[in-house]
Amino acid sequence: MKYVKNTDFLNLPRLSLIGAGPGDPELISRKGYRLLQEADVVLYDALVSQELLDELPQNVHKVYVGKRCGQHSWTQDEINQFLVDCAFRYGHVVRLKGGDPFVFGRGHEELQFAQAYGIPVEVVPGISSAIAGPASVGIPVTHRGISNSFWVVTATTRKHQISKDLKLAAQSSSTLVILMGTRKLSNIVQLVLQHRPVETPVGLIESATLPHARTILGNLGEIEKLAVEQQFSAPGIIVVGEVAGLHPFFQDKRRRDTPFMNQPEQAVQSSSSIAK
Ligand SMILES: C[S@@+](CC[C@H](N)C(=O)[O-])C[C@H]1O[C@@H](n2cnc3c(N)ncnc32)[C@H](O)[C@@H]1O
Repeated sequence: MKYVKNTDFLNLPRLSLIGAGPGDPELISRKGYRLLQEADVVLYDALVSQELLDELPQNVHKVYVGKRCGQHSWTQDEINQFLVDCAFRYGHVVRLKGGDPFVFGRGHEELQFAQAYGIPVEVVPGISSAIAGPASVGIPVTHRGISNSFWVVTATTRKHQISKDLKLAAQSSSTLVILMGTRKLSNIVQLVLQHRPVETPVGLIESATLPHARTILGNLGEIEKLAVEQQFSAPGIIVVGEVAGLHPFFQDKRRRDTPFMNQPEQAVQSSSSIAK
């Protein structure tokens, strides 16, 4: 008789906490993708790629447990309990989260909750939008001689106030990468202007790595106006610092503004821009 080592048929409860990456379905890790294909049930968030979900085998249960504004929102307690129930009922639960599960993703809370029930948890890191968002439009979060560090900060705290860390970060010379700040742009700009020059370059990146991604570029003094004009909306990343000035838009602008230099053929027409 052949000895079968595979125990998958027992549907033992287990949880894979997987980072789906910033949006582009190709930016999930190979390991994450493999585990996803082996899932019995997938609980996913709003920012997870539909294409990834469409590639799941037909028999896999897919449940949206997001917290999107204006729709039924799952509380974190409901999600925790649901993923434990699913693990005992179906076996392998994949919790698929946008970006990295441990970057403003509440992934560790889910891990602790599942482990308290004795459910084994595997964490598969994802590419965080905090780094991939800026990178995808040509903005490095560090650059030798320009920025030695970056702060990834949430704009608001649990009590919907501007985070104290953002105030500290603004006082440093570090690159600021601000998540969940789309609606707080005005407050963020006011705060940063207290510590950084009005010419400081800023990049606003909307729906990074997705086909409809947009980038709005300007300096601290003008960015709020540009964001209103161009209807900057969530999900968005705000990058503040000289590294944002490495975006080709600013390079072109510098060339345009500098006398005796050749004009680039496709010069940007104004100080504002939506770049793809
Ligand atoms: C709850 S946080 C989760 C972050 C995620 N865990 C990560 O590592 O990217 C959600 C915020 O991440 C940012 N974000 C995530 N994906 C994004 C994308 N594709 N484009 C722009 N911003 C994104 C936005 O600031 C959004 O409000």
